[in-house]
Amino acid sequence: MNKDMLLWDETIFKNGEVLELDYLPEYFAHRDNQLQTLKYSLRPAMRGMRPVNCLLTGPPGTGKTTAVLKVFEEMREHTDDIIFVKVNCQMDSTRFAVISRIYKKLFNVSPPSSGVSFRKLFEKVAEYLVEIEKVLVVALDDINYLFYEGHADEVMYSLLRAHEEYPGVKIGIITIVSDTGKIYQFDPKVSSVFLPEEIDCPRYDYGELQDIISNRVKYAFFPDVVSDEVRDRIVDYVDRTGDLRVGVNLLKRSGLNAERRASRTVSVEDVEKAYEASRLMHLCRSIKSLTSDERTLLQLIAKGEDAKTGELYKSFHEITKLGYTRFYDMVNKLNTVQFVDADFSGKGMRGRTRIIKPRYEPQDILKCLE
Ligand SMILES: Nc1ncnc2c1ncn2[C@@H]1O[C@H](COP(=O)(O)OP(=O)(O)O)[C@@H](O)[C@H]1O
Ligand SMILES: [Mg+2]
Repeated sequence: MNKDMLLWDETIFKNGEVLELDYLPEYFAHRDNQLQTLKYSLRPAMRGMRPVNCLLTGPPGTGKTTAVLKVFEEMREHTDDIIFVKVNCQMDSTRFAVISRIYKKLFNVSPPSSGVSFRKLFEKVAEYLVEIEKVLVVALDDINYLFYEGHADEVMYSLLRAHEEYPGVKIGIITIVSDTGKIYQFDPKVSSVFLPEEIDCPRYDYGELQDIISNRVKYAFFPDVVSDEVRDRIVDYVDRTGDLRVGVNLLKRSGLNAERRASRTVSVEDVEKAYEASRLMHLCRSIKSLTSDERTLLQLIAKGEDAKTGELYKSFHEITKLGYTRFYDMVNKLNTVQFVDADFSGKGMRGRTRIIKPRYEPQDILKCLE
């Protein structure tokens, strides 16, 4: 019997749960300032006052969602007078879905899915908050996804001005924006009342990533399963994009690869294989969520023959028969969800030549589109 081989009922994972994406880490370092600012902003709610609104920004995988959930968790231990709701706008991407999520949190049942309007649900929520005398704190996570549907302003406006229509209602809003190099503008009606405390979550530097990954390794695996060399290979990959989600996922998949080989240690090759697989997996999953017209457009962009907007539109129109406005909206969406790079920020872009480039390896995109 080789002592380096894992027996069938053995595992190298001490606690695999800490490698799941919905796991709220106990060790959450390098975000002290952000956590402090969040807490100070929400603290008034503990005395029945309206909290200070917040805006969290930063690239994907830099701990924005986690920071908010950590603060919610901590404050929940100290008060019953605040109701905390986190809305994942990628999943709930319409104003109706957002208010339904809040409604469900308050009443513990889903509202009817048809025959009732956003306004009506909003009224129920607001009246109930006044009745029970609690403060509502809503985190609109990845609010970017509400923008291209045009629902962000109405949700924000309703929440921000609720007290005018329903005196006594107290609502605080945390918006979380994964920045995509594009500045999101609320309607002036919204921005003139939102006035958030701005909290930035910049990319972690190499040392910070190393520290965070090391800790996750310590909780997830038995001692000596992951060497420093293997860990640093993972940190190298995370450092390419700065997205820690990649790191957590790589740890899990590398560990599973090692177990498949019945090995007691994770090797660099286990990491390489995991990276290759996860790279495509993420991409294919998000491509699947696009509409078929959007996929057609993405395919044209990936083929790269018509990088200029004008020609691209011609090819797109030929296949789909859709007009320029729809085309333009779709390019914007693909830009927002970071499939492509298209600088449309200037005014009067119509008719102007812009270059649109895929952000991923074109052959990877095409593979997912097969
Ligand atoms: N400072 C940190 N310490 C430990 N784990 C972290 C830290 N920042 C992020 N993570 C982990 O990285 C992953 C992505 O974090 P998340 O909060 O979802 O990022 P974002 O919301 O900015 O995209 C999660 O698994 C989270 O647990
Ligand atoms: Mg997030």
